[in-house]
Amino acid sequence: MADVYKNFINGKWIETKSGKTFKNINPANTEDVVGIFPSSDEKDVNKAVESARKAWEMWRKVPAPKRGAILEKACKLLIDRKNEIAKLMTREMGKILMETQGDIQEGIDTAFYMAGEGRRLFGQTTPSELNDKFCMSIRIPMGVAGVISPWNFPMAIPCWKIMPALICGDTVVFKPASDAPASGAKLIEVLEEAGIPEGVVNLVHGTGKSVGIPMCNHPNINLITFTGSSQVGSEIASVCGKTLKRVSLEMGGKNAQIVMDDADLDLALEGAIWGAYGTTGQRCTATSRLIIHKKIAKEFIKMFVERASKIKIGDGLKPGTEMGPVINEGQLKTIHQYVIIGKDEDKAELALGGDFYTKGECAKGFFYQPTVFIKCHRKMRIAREEIFGPVLTIIEVKDLDDAIEVLNDTNYGLSSSIYTRDVNKAFKAIRDIYAGITYINGPTIGAEMHMPFGGTKHTGNGHRESGTEVLNTFSEWKTIYVDYSGKLQKAQIDTYKE
Ligand code: UN1
Repeated sequence: MADVYKNFINGKWIETKSGKTFKNINPANTEDVVGIFPSSDEKDVNKAVESARKAWEMWRKVPAPKRGAILEKACKLLIDRKNEIAKLMTREMGKILMETQGDIQEGIDTAFYMAGEGRRLFGQTTPSELNDKFCMSIRIPMGVAGVISPWNFPMAIPCWKIMPALICGDTVVFKPASDAPASGAKLIEVLEEAGIPEGVVNLVHGTGKSVGIPMCNHPNINLITFTGSSQVGSEIASVCGKTLKRVSLEMGGKNAQIVMDDADLDLALEGAIWGAYGTTGQRCTATSRLIIHKKIAKEFIKMFVERASKIKIGDGLKPGTEMGPVINEGQLKTIHQYVIIGKDEDKAELALGGDFYTKGECAKGFFYQPTVFIKCHRKMRIAREEIFGPVLTIIEVKDLDDAIEVLNDTNYGLSSSIYTRDVNKAFKAIRDIYAGITYINGPTIGAEMHMPFGGTKHTGNGHRESGTEVLNTFSEWKTIYVDYSGKLQKAQIDTYKE
């Protein structure tokens, strides 16, 4: 029997107004129903926003260190429940257990970091240009934050958004991805147990169309934070534009790893395999292009294909599995479509994979083979469009300038990497790669939550998640001038009076 889940509104677990539901299945085995979830609509969103708005009047006045104490408790509860939730997460979205544990750890780290932020939330003080006057700026809460999160990091990304929102004094309406709703529900359970007051966090399950868009349209939601595709992000931004909402978007990538001819090839190989096939290539930071110096191309491709062909594919709960399924049938078809496009494009050559993986038990799920295209060039669709699957496009280059030019020739700008032993080349790459993240001698995946996360160009709209930078998404700056001179002082005018 599948578990039945509910929405969480105003501190209570309740069904939708319409009574409609949807089921979520295990992508590694479509016969396994993970849970039945409420299929909510605008009416449920309205209720959640009403409750969040009401709670905000109280929550915004709770001292931030006290808010932090609740996050600290949530952090401890997440530690206790890490393994249990990780197993559920693998069942609901497929990535291997080691990775779902990592996903929850990222949530734990975020809760811990943001709990501490309750005793910082630093503002500034600065001298005034006038006598007997004091200037300072402080962060004030925004109001109700609408959180729309993706299925590939079902705990880390909601935590990236919800923890800073709470510490800043915002209340939350949260819509987890309908492909991975159970982990999101567990996070809310944890927050409830940690003692979050009623109405401060509200959970509404459902699709982007019936829940996400009404959230963007709602006049009482002050900001939307979204992680997902650039296409959906652009739709969200245009809806939010109409109600003049702040909107923070974290979207696609076409991340590349450069391997120079002086690189440690074994190290570069490990990085490329992990970057390309970790999470079955379904990270916005995944390595989907490998840019290799032509001097070592032949050797490196041979090493890569050999290693990639040995990747153990299967159910992520089984020990020894290295790569799980992709999220759903639609995504499986999209990946295969890109492979067909790749095969037809110019002189690209399929060096590995290129088909569904249906061996044994895998026939019951959405599995795809690790796939490698060689002899590609930067104008090909498989070198430009985000595929979000285990497909790697390899491009050969003649030198560092060429490598960086190819790397930058994309509409996206999230993560990037270069393997080289030459410090001069490394620093040139840091200067010239136009992306939000650059790794030196590390893969494109593996961002840490206390550093800013986000990208340039179509990857985002100028905001950053994580670190202290994320606080700018969830708070407003208030500037305060205290004039204790007892008289009217005119800035800019009295300042320069003889
Ligand atoms: C994402 O794919 O949206 O850097 C987030 C990483 C992870 C986060 C990925 N820590 O790969």
